[in-house]
Amino acid sequence: MSEHRDLTIHGQWSSRWTFVLAAAGSAVGLGNIWKFPYITGENGGGAFVLVYLVCIALIGLPIMMAEIMIGRRGRHSPINTMRILSQKEGASPHWKYIGWMGVIAGFLILSYYSVIAGWALAYVFRAAGGMFTGASAEQVGTIFSTLTDSSERLLAWHTLFMVMTMIVVARGVKSGLEQAVRFLMPALFVILILLVGYAMTTDSFMRGLHFLFDPDFSKITGAGILIAMGHAFFTLSLGMGAIMVYGSYMPQNASIASTSLIIVGADTLVALLAGMAIFPVVFANGLEPSSGPGLIFQTLPVAFGQMPGGSFFGTLFFILLVFAAWTSSISLIEPAVAWLVENHGMSRVSASVWAGAAAWLVGLGTVFSFNEWSDVTLFGKHFFDLLDFLTANIMLPLGGLLIAIYAAWVMTREVSRDELAMERPVLFGLWRACIRYVAPAAVTIVFLNAIGVLGG
Ligand code: PHE
Repeated sequence: MSEHRDLTIHGQWSSRWTFVLAAAGSAVGLGNIWKFPYITGENGGGAFVLVYLVCIALIGLPIMMAEIMIGRRGRHSPINTMRILSQKEGASPHWKYIGWMGVIAGFLILSYYSVIAGWALAYVFRAAGGMFTGASAEQVGTIFSTLTDSSERLLAWHTLFMVMTMIVVARGVKSGLEQAVRFLMPALFVILILLVGYAMTTDSFMRGLHFLFDPDFSKITGAGILIAMGHAFFTLSLGMGAIMVYGSYMPQNASIASTSLIIVGADTLVALLAGMAIFPVVFANGLEPSSGPGLIFQTLPVAFGQMPGGSFFGTLFFILLVFAAWTSSISLIEPAVAWLVENHGMSRVSASVWAGAAAWLVGLGTVFSFNEWSDVTLFGKHFFDLLDFLTANIMLPLGGLLIAIYAAWVMTREVSRDELAMERPVLFGLWRACIRYVAPAAVTIVFLNAIGVLGG
């Protein structure tokens, strides 16, 4: 029987490598370089990192394979993919709400992601202008707070970044993206290695490594475990349909298992390198690891300010960070745009404008939470923290849990075996055990533990 499974109205990646680049572009972003170090700092270091790595291996990797598999099988936006596949499997049409939750999570994440990416944009010009040369940690701290204290500035950078995102999404994520990711990702990698090299020259390098890799379990709490797990989803772009929608553009003959492994490996390496570059500088300059979302913006400029050629490397670094954020932000909004095109007959251009404008508007809440509204809190968190917590620690793991249940308990074994087409049956068995039992149980336990049901 000839199945027309290659057909999607949105087109297809030109090769397996384009898919790998796009998915890696989605995964590697602010999550790795900005968020991972600061939440590691806030949650005590080593033990937190270990929990994060375990979550990546046991939950992240299998769920990434499941998302790509479902996406490629369905060949539509996540909402319609879930609806169509459920129909075929004779399952409830309500599974499409996974797609809906993902669209909402993507919006909410993009709204604050764009604000933080705006900081990186602003820093390109600060680095190029030589503002960091020879600057002390205190002076860099002042540069950072001058930026975040000004709602006008944050708003301007947030707007610029959102427009950049909408332009790429409007043109279709498949054109243009390929070139960008092919050169910029390796460049980012090289500059991170360079920064780790600089960190080695400080006398705090070993202290930084100990902080990152020496687990002290007395420092980890139920909430910390939830944050580590949430971050595993966030950093791999899982649980909201971004990888699913990219998977729907994936050629039929590409191996899902090996591409997932490459993406997960690259993403994890970038995060660990970022940590190794940052913490030695934190300790060498007497800064606090737990200083929050400003951590890399308050530490890396000190390093750039001291190293030879620092203005050049600093500028380059922040440009690359902007690109990393850019290739992630377009994937945050793609599920929504693909759905608007499919169900409302919108052109990609108007779909991007509407979706981007809505996310921009919600982003104002984050802009103000760093200045005018910094005293406005709910459950002790201001708007940005609340949004980040809700999306990364609740919506993404919940979406991921449902995706795992769907892939393991609703789709038949035969369908997943065909779609994954893994050469070794043992590995397929291992994947299925993870997705059927380990991942759902782990997510549930972490949730229950965090809300204190398990007496933690
Ligand atoms: N993975 C991206 C990062 O680490 C963020 C992201 C989350 C992108 C969810 C898409 C979907 O920065």
